[in-house]
Amino acid sequence: MRIIIPLILTCLLFSCNAFDEKKTFEAVSSNGQLKLSFNLSEEGQPYYLVMRDGNVIIDTSYLGFEFKDAPAFDKNFIIKNSETKTNIETWQMPWGEQKDVVNNYRELKIMLQEKVSPERFLNVVFRVYDDGVGFRYEFPEQARLKAVEILEERTQFNLTQDYKTFWIPGDWDIYEHLYSTTKLSEIDALKYVGHVNLAQTYIPENAVNTPVTMVGDDGTHLSFHEAALVDYSGMTLKVDTDNLSLESHLVGTENKPYKVKRTLPFHTPWRTIQITNNAPDLIASNLIVNLNEPNKLGDVSWIKPMKYTGVWWEMHLGKSSWDYGMEMIDGQWVDTGKAHGRHGATTENVKRLIDFSAQNNIKGVLVEGWNTGWERWIGFEDREGVFDFVTTYPDYDIDEVVRYGKEKGVSIIMHHESSAATETYTKQQDAAFALMKKYGMHAVKTGYVGKILPKGEYHHGQYMVNHYNNTVEKAAKYEVAINAHEPIKATGLRRTYPNTISREGLRGQEFNAWAQDGGNPPEHLPIVAFTRMLAGPIDFTPGIFNIKFDEYKSENQVNTTLAQQLALYVVIYSPIQMAADLVEHYEANPEPMQFIKDVGVDWDETRVLNGEVGDYVTIARKERETGNWFLGSITDENARDIDLSFDFLEPNQEYTATIYKDGKDAHWDKNPLAITIETITVNQNSKLKLKLAQGGGVAISIMKK
Ligand code: NOJ
Ligand code: CA
Repeated sequence: MRIIIPLILTCLLFSCNAFDEKKTFEAVSSNGQLKLSFNLSEEGQPYYLVMRDGNVIIDTSYLGFEFKDAPAFDKNFIIKNSETKTNIETWQMPWGEQKDVVNNYRELKIMLQEKVSPERFLNVVFRVYDDGVGFRYEFPEQARLKAVEILEERTQFNLTQDYKTFWIPGDWDIYEHLYSTTKLSEIDALKYVGHVNLAQTYIPENAVNTPVTMVGDDGTHLSFHEAALVDYSGMTLKVDTDNLSLESHLVGTENKPYKVKRTLPFHTPWRTIQITNNAPDLIASNLIVNLNEPNKLGDVSWIKPMKYTGVWWEMHLGKSSWDYGMEMIDGQWVDTGKAHGRHGATTENVKRLIDFSAQNNIKGVLVEGWNTGWERWIGFEDREGVFDFVTTYPDYDIDEVVRYGKEKGVSIIMHHESSAATETYTKQQDAAFALMKKYGMHAVKTGYVGKILPKGEYHHGQYMVNHYNNTVEKAAKYEVAINAHEPIKATGLRRTYPNTISREGLRGQEFNAWAQDGGNPPEHLPIVAFTRMLAGPIDFTPGIFNIKFDEYKSENQVNTTLAQQLALYVVIYSPIQMAADLVEHYEANPEPMQFIKDVGVDWDETRVLNGEVGDYVTIARKERETGNWFLGSITDENARDIDLSFDFLEPNQEYTATIYKDGKDAHWDKNPLAITIETITVNQNSKLKLKLAQGGGVAISIMKK
């Protein structure tokens, strides 16, 4: 059930035909701490400022646009009107980190007009929350402006401290970089140009991708991002290291002389600044989802949060392959008898995963490499027309695995690796989703490895933003939920389209299997939790038990302890969570497997108990339906003691807590498998001191007695 308490007060504050430079325009958050001010400079250039408890967080920052074949929106504006509004509302997530989401903001809308010809109009709408500010531009319908070709958006964020900044480069083609931690004044994104391990990359400026998170000496925590990215380009932030300032730098295209084209009326995505005075509150912030439109899909009860296994890690380890060994003859894939015998997606292999999943409370099996085309995947220029999303390899009997899965209560998760050949994928989507519907499959993992086709487009430009969003909308018509890899960043659209269940968009677990730079270091996820995770659910694919996998790759390993792999099911949020390791590795470790079997995936409530960006974080989540709690805590390369209080539990209720913690002398590299499992009884008054090893963690299931 959905509860909405709308209280919308609209008042016309101010109306004039000429700029009154004395008047300031303000909106203050409901707790009174954050204040947003707007005004025009003497030249009529729009600017804003953000203060928190009287301190300037964002100093005078100008707003504007450059257009192709039209004068810029940069000065000569007057304020025609302004409106304020208060919104107090609680909405419900169909699935999520919590059920009820409070959406309280004060809105200030400024209507601008140029005082010189062509006297065009522009609105700026600000929403001020207790945990930050969002604003967007509206291009209202008007006689003298019908369409715009945007060369650049000029939105500034002028900072007042040299913040400690957690950033990835402003790559137009991929987010799968390691995070750097530097002073704002020391950001050097261009050092990532030409980095190894990436199937595509383009970093044109000293810019960062968002979310980018900052910690100030005074404890101010900031994160910059965007919300509701629709029919526009992704925004990177260009860094001015001398002036401690960021400015929007939109992702472009080689195919057009502009970055974004829109017809009026339209509005831009929200530009967001999350502002808190500690790290945990950044994770707790709902600003990004709140700035999105409510659910447009109606009943989405067909979307089922679940754990899943898959024919997946074995390919990344090199145990099996995606391709079968067919040949393309006259545009057709033909089995010429040259199969190499290492194909992973066989009927037999998938049935084994179904059996294992059914025994372990896991409801889905992802099958990669089931369809023809993988022989011409990575490294091929000409990828259009290669993949096919309905034709199976000869050793995969889709009817049989679906039937068998149904019998065991396990569904098959579809896989569409588009290889970034967007025209082929777009053309085939109806047939591909119809096939899924026929088999009762409700989830697909999509992939976009490689340079985008058509050539000249980038993963994060307007063309691809539209491709990703159109795919989600089309899939919804077939009751299909999307987990996109090599995606566009999450911007809270899951509120509007709840079939956007998860996505990659970071260096995932797969890098530990093959990266030539040592894989993800122990600090990776304690940074991700406060950066990428603020954008939305992550398909990180945790749960690797065989940490060193020397049998397959002696040069690679996972850089955490086994206990941390368990903790990730709680810390890294996604409504679909993979148990990514091989069946035989789980079967060899039934005790820790119990945690994966028990852990929930859909939550009533989330509490971020402690944390510092890049160091450690502890999160407890209450499962929907059962009311059981699960807790995860992870640390970077430093060992630490954490004090836990169980005061989040219900009063007068006893729980059985099973604690999966780093064993004596556990260490992410020297002794990753050392784990101690113990069971105690806890209640609301319980307290516990726990030790996290270097690169370690702890996972606790807290089940009602
Ligand atoms: C990259 C994805 O991130 C990975 O999970 C997948 O296995 C491969 N592409 C193949 O589609
Ligand atoms: Ca990837």
